[in-house]
Amino acid sequence: MDSSQPPAASADWWRQAVVYQVYPRSFADSDGDGVGDLRGITSRIGYLAALGIDAVWLSPFYPSALADGGYDVDDYRDVDPRLGTLADFDELTAGLHEYGIKVIVDIVPNHTSDRHAWFREALAAPKGSRARDRYIFRDGRGPGGAEPPADWPSAFGGPAWSRVPDGQWYLHLFTAQQPDLNWANGEVRDDFLATLRFWSDRGVDGFRVDVAHGLTKNLAEPLEPLPAKLNPGDWPPPTGTHPLWDRDEVHDIYAQWRQVFDEYDPPRVGVAEAWVHPSRRPRYASPSGLGQAFNFDLLEANWRAGEFLQVIIDNLADAQRYGASTTWVLSNHDVVRHASRYALPAADGSGSRVNAKAWLLSNGTSPEPDRGLGLRRARAATLLMLALPGSAYLYQGEELGLHEVADLPADRLQDPAYLRSDGADKGRDGCRVPLPWTGGGPAFGFGTGPAHLPQPDWFGPLSVETQERDPASTLALYRHALSWRRRLQGAETLEWMPGTNGQVLHFRRPGGWRSVTNFGSSAVPLPDGTVVLASGPVEDGLLPADTTAWIIPPSPGAATREDF
Ligand code: GLC
Repeated sequence: MDSSQPPAASADWWRQAVVYQVYPRSFADSDGDGVGDLRGITSRIGYLAALGIDAVWLSPFYPSALADGGYDVDDYRDVDPRLGTLADFDELTAGLHEYGIKVIVDIVPNHTSDRHAWFREALAAPKGSRARDRYIFRDGRGPGGAEPPADWPSAFGGPAWSRVPDGQWYLHLFTAQQPDLNWANGEVRDDFLATLRFWSDRGVDGFRVDVAHGLTKNLAEPLEPLPAKLNPGDWPPPTGTHPLWDRDEVHDIYAQWRQVFDEYDPPRVGVAEAWVHPSRRPRYASPSGLGQAFNFDLLEANWRAGEFLQVIIDNLADAQRYGASTTWVLSNHDVVRHASRYALPAADGSGSRVNAKAWLLSNGTSPEPDRGLGLRRARAATLLMLALPGSAYLYQGEELGLHEVADLPADRLQDPAYLRSDGADKGRDGCRVPLPWTGGGPAFGFGTGPAHLPQPDWFGPLSVETQERDPASTLALYRHALSWRRRLQGAETLEWMPGTNGQVLHFRRPGGWRSVTNFGSSAVPLPDGTVVLASGPVEDGLLPADTTAWIIPPSPGAATREDF
């Protein structure tokens, strides 16, 4: 089989797809204004095809004031003029489709931006009006209604309520520029169905659903106090009754969306971003709902064999029970890049998202990261992830082994998580720095002018151009891995092999493809078979610490091995 050709289209294409997340404003800038754009992405389609991905997920490219990196949407059915036009979008989609690459767009249904026509109308309309009912407006408490209607916090710090000139308050679980929609309102529901059809009609293959667990709230008066404040990284309790998060009735919405998805051939797909208790995730991923949900468990896990093992066992069991395929994620635009998370000393979590956030507050200096170790583990983790059944989501730049840019100057930070927390949270800009395409030159080839977030000097040696010349680069590892994965991928099953223990994870996929990872601190003997790919040098029949190898049954002369 020619591994450079993507598999033929089928309704199940997503089940084991490798999906590459593009954060459009930081991918490639075609017009030199420092902000990435759709034409920039189109100009790099060859790169995406050579990487060997199955689909691209585009983070929001809609008109936006960028109060939250584009997750504050002014108009769901248009393109931000700084990023291009609908015609540019069509060209990008057609270009990706030509290479057999699917297109997933980000839908942000929990909130609009405060510049959305509906919110402007709501502000101009009186209390109790139809326009206000699309959002969540309430009178305040206390004398003169001067206190917010409930003690609900915004995810980015501060209260989740802001006051408007006539004295009412509106709910925003994120920034004040992201008013929450009222999903009990029929017009809101219908409008999103129209948006799903709008993009599906333009050829979009699927939707990533932002904050999918937040849409329905308990808005009965008096507003319910929160049972307990959730810390970053906490899930709401798995009861389906929290006033704000993961309420049972949210699934009625996705059942309706499913009907729209199924109007198309092949049916459109959905993937929920739902930070919920793992036992609740399958409901979002069910075939009568969105079909898939992000599994962030690997992203939360520390670099320990036992933690990875449990996560894999649990998620495969869940996926099988509910008929979905599972998803795997190590990095995205909201978390510290995994090469940096794994660079932290074990005592600091060595992988944990929450501890990495604390590290960011020191501008990445305390504790001192071991970047070499972090990258070694990141490559090993990626190879392990790519050997698992289910789909894998990659985040732009991880194929270059990029670390977090942890020392961005405070006056350049854009993330509301930083701006709204008075600096108590450094925010997510460090993983959103524009990509380095060339070893030097303006913005390292990202564009012709300075990038909207400053790129560090160490981006040069990690650029695409530099790595394309190095057969042992992380980019080469990703390309080989995706090509082998396509060749070896079979049914969605996995069998644990002898030798799996507190230090080593060793499993087999149908057809005899095996993956073995050494999480320990000393080398272990390699199992029998032909090593076709390894995340680091493999010598003398030994698998070094922090390394993954892919092995196929011995068949002399059939395979060549690639070591990195
Ligand atoms: C999701 C997005 C994040 C955004 C938030 C609010 O978590 O991934 O980037 O800030 O939703 O829309």
